[in-house]
Order: sequence, then C-alpha cells, then structure tokens
Amino acid sequence: MKRIGILTSGGDSPGMNAAVVTAARSAALFEMDVIGVKRGYNGLIIGEDNDTKGMMALDLETVLDIADQPGTFLRTARCIEFLNPDVRAKAAKRLNSLGIEGLIVIGGDGSFNGARALCNLGIPCIGIPGTIDNDLAYTERSLGYDTAVNVCINSVRQIRATSRSHDRVAVVEVMGRHCGDIALRTAMCTGAEQVIVPEMSWNVHQLADRINDLKEKGDTRATIIVAEGVYKNQSMENFNAFELLSSYDKNYYLTHSPNEPMNSHLLAHVLRVLAPGCEARSTVLGYTQRGSAPYAYDAAFAFEAGHLAAKLLHSGISEQVIGIKNGKVFYMPIREALDMKPTFDTAMYSLVNSL
Ligand code: F6P
Repeated sequence: MKRIGILTSGGDSPGMNAAVVTAARSAALFEMDVIGVKRGYNGLIIGEDNDTKGMMALDLETVLDIADQPGTFLRTARCIEFLNPDVRAKAAKRLNSLGIEGLIVIGGDGSFNGARALCNLGIPCIGIPGTIDNDLAYTERSLGYDTAVNVCINSVRQIRATSRSHDRVAVVEVMGRHCGDIALRTAMCTGAEQVIVPEMSWNVHQLADRINDLKEKGDTRATIIVAEGVYKNQSMENFNAFELLSSYDKNYYLTHSPNEPMNSHLLAHVLRVLAPGCEARSTVLGYTQRGSAPYAYDAAFAFEAGHLAAKLLHSGISEQVIGIKNGKVFYMPIREALDMKPTFDTAMYSLVNSL
C-alpha cells in the first residue's frame, strides 16, 4: 500500500490522538502516506470522487504535537447516514478514487460495523477499540477506559474529602450507557460502599436500607457510584419513589427535567427522604472522564495498537480488530469480535455491595 486513511468515530476517548500519531509514524516507516479523515465517517461522505474535502494529509510535522492532547485532533462524530448501503458504496468508491488503499478506524462497535461494511466493499480496514465505556466483549480493555477510571478515582477521592468532613452520603454518577465497567472499577478502586450498574436491577428502597445499615455501623459518609445508564429500563419502584417527594419538589423536577423521571440529583433527593438523617448530595462527572490526556496504560496501548494497525495494512492483513487479551495486544477478525456477547463481573459487583 502507498496510502492509507485513519479516522476516529463515536465518542472521543483518551488515547485516540496518541494512536493516530503512532499509526502515522509507523506508516512513514513503511513508506505509506496517511490521510486523516475528519469527523468520523462524515469525512468519507462529505465530498465527491477525487476531492479531499473532509480529509487532511497527516505529515509527521502536523501530527507529532498532538500525542499529548486530550480529545481527538481529527474530530469525531456519529454518522447515521453511514448505515445506508448506498452511502457506504459511495464512500468506498471515493476512497478508491483518492488512492486510499486501507483504513484504520478508531471507535466502538458502531464504528466497527462501518469498517466491516467497507471491508465487504473491498476496502481493507483495521479497527482500534476507542471508547471509555469498555463495552466491547472481545477485548479486556478499550482505549480510554483506564484513563476515564483514573479521572473518576481522583474525583471520588476529592468528593469524599468533603463528604467525610460533613458526614454526607455522596452519589457520584460516572459514564457508561449500557455498561457498568467504569462504575464497578471506580467503586473497587475507591472502596465505595455501593455501585449501581445497568446490567443489574436495583431499587431505591434497598439502597436506602443499605445507607441506614451503614450509618448504624458508624459509616456516615457512604459513597454510591452510579453508571449513567441505570435510569433507563429501571423498575417501577424507582419511578414510584418520585411520589415520595413533596409537591413543591415534584413540581421543581417536573419543571426542570420533564423528560427525566429519575436522575442522580433526584436519586440523592429521594435518599434524603427515605433515609432520614442522610444528607446525600450528587455529583455528575460527565465529560471530565473523556477529556483527559491518556494515562500510562492507554498511552502504551495507543502506541502498540497504532503501530500494529499500520503494520497489518502494510502486510496485506485486513478485516481485523486490535484488542488486549491476557494483558497482551492481539488482533482477531472484526466479524467474530462483533459477535461476542459482553459479560459482567457479577461476583465483584456483589463483593463491592456487601462489604
Ligand atoms: O463514548 C461513550 C459515551 O461517553 C457514553 O458513556 C455516553 O453515554 C455517551 O458516550 C455520551 O455521548 P455524547 O454525549 O457524545 O452523545
């Protein structure tokens, strides 16, 4: 190959820039040009054949400075149009017209589905798992996950310093749409007394009982780590807890969050009602988890994965995703990786919630 493309897609994750830099440095070693595709798959479909709209040449001078930067220099997006087979075929044709012979895709499962479709259209693709959620079953860790957890750990420690000083319960919401890995790992690493995740059912009454028990045992500053996805598909008991609020508070929430029957601020509020004397306060960590520069683990994974992706394309190997198995970087076919079902560490979940 003489020219390859690279894009970042889906939610940005710490380490994406570092992976792009290493892929570009490795491509230079293999005497391949690298074209950066901007805003995920949008950059492939925004222009016509033979024009480079939505793309930029990634010469070493451009990329070397971005390795330490948070976010993704190439920008990212979720591209719904790319689900359309005609749009994909047009993108493949455009890549051919520009002499881009292979593509590195850094993103999550939706991004990998796009890469698989391009492979079927004759464009060799290699995937690097870039998502803080760690929701790809085939790999032990995805790029950005460990950094996101580190950000959460630092924040929980700071929040707890204040909570402890005031004997308050802390509800800390972390990211994780369908996957509780960030929440569980943060809870383990901080010794939080309770973790709530989308994979497991939960209810506010049991949670209030737990807080009351802990208080009786002398723990007045319990930390509850909540994954953002827990408020979808929750049990009716949680919704009914809303009725426990005074009409003033109910009106407040209906006015400010009409489409959110439950959120972390409301959960803290309900706990204050259900566990008398529990001064629960909530903090939503949000984008702080995605916006950090990569810590050592992700920076090292980005380095290895970026190099391997360029090397695989250079060697004529395609339709693979890179991941980590038994602590080592490996690759496997995209199709098989996407067919794997996620598992959740229920034993660790039970341990965290019982100590
Ligand atoms: O990248 C994964 C993630 O951070 C999820 O944890 C979260 O639900 C989602 O992206 C939010 O994405 P956005 O705010 O960019 O729409």
